[in-house]
Amino acid sequence: MAKFEIIVGSVLGASEYVADALQEMLLSHAHSADIHLTPKLKDLDRRAIWIICTSTHGAGDLPDNIQPFAKQLENLDLKGHSFLIVGLGDSSYDTYCHGSVQIESIMLSSGAKLLSSALHIDVLNHPIPEDIAVEWLESWLKTMNILHNH
Ligand SMILES: Cc1cc2nc3c(=O)[nH]c(=O)nc-3n(C[C@H](O)[C@H](O)[C@H](O)COP(=O)(O)O)c2cc1C
Repeated sequence: MAKFEIIVGSVLGASEYVADALQEMLLSHAHSADIHLTPKLKDLDRRAIWIICTSTHGAGDLPDNIQPFAKQLENLDLKGHSFLIVGLGDSSYDTYCHGSVQIESIMLSSGAKLLSSALHIDVLNHPIPEDIAVEWLESWLKTMNILHNH
């Protein structure tokens, strides 16, 4: 069993739906997964795998609810720490998925390890983003050999 912390950045709720679907899938495979809608460093287990699931708003910005958390991550030492990124965006913006790219680069600068290339979901082509996100995470669990059926 692996432990996951799902950290959500959302304005309109789409990333929250994705987080819910990921949590449901992880729990069904006997993993543990908590969702953080107002993420704070002190509430997160640093030994868990963090899944940062965030949209992009404004002009390539992170949603307001995750901005304080992104600030907390700056200048932190996260060596030995693992994470995954699921970014939601709309490819009609020049700043496609820039919010998730921003937080990915903060995590990498802090020394954390990205376990798989970020998943960027274009909501223009994927009206149900949770389906593609669940498929992606399940296939990652398979390659890690931690997909258990119960
Ligand atoms: C005002 C506004 C600004 C947006 N800006 C961007 C952007 O800069 N880049 C991008 O990739 N998507 C942008 N989007 C698209 C959202 O990221 C996309 O609709 C996403 O699904 C919203 O997820 P959420 O409901 O979790 O906030 C924007 C959407 C809105 C409404």
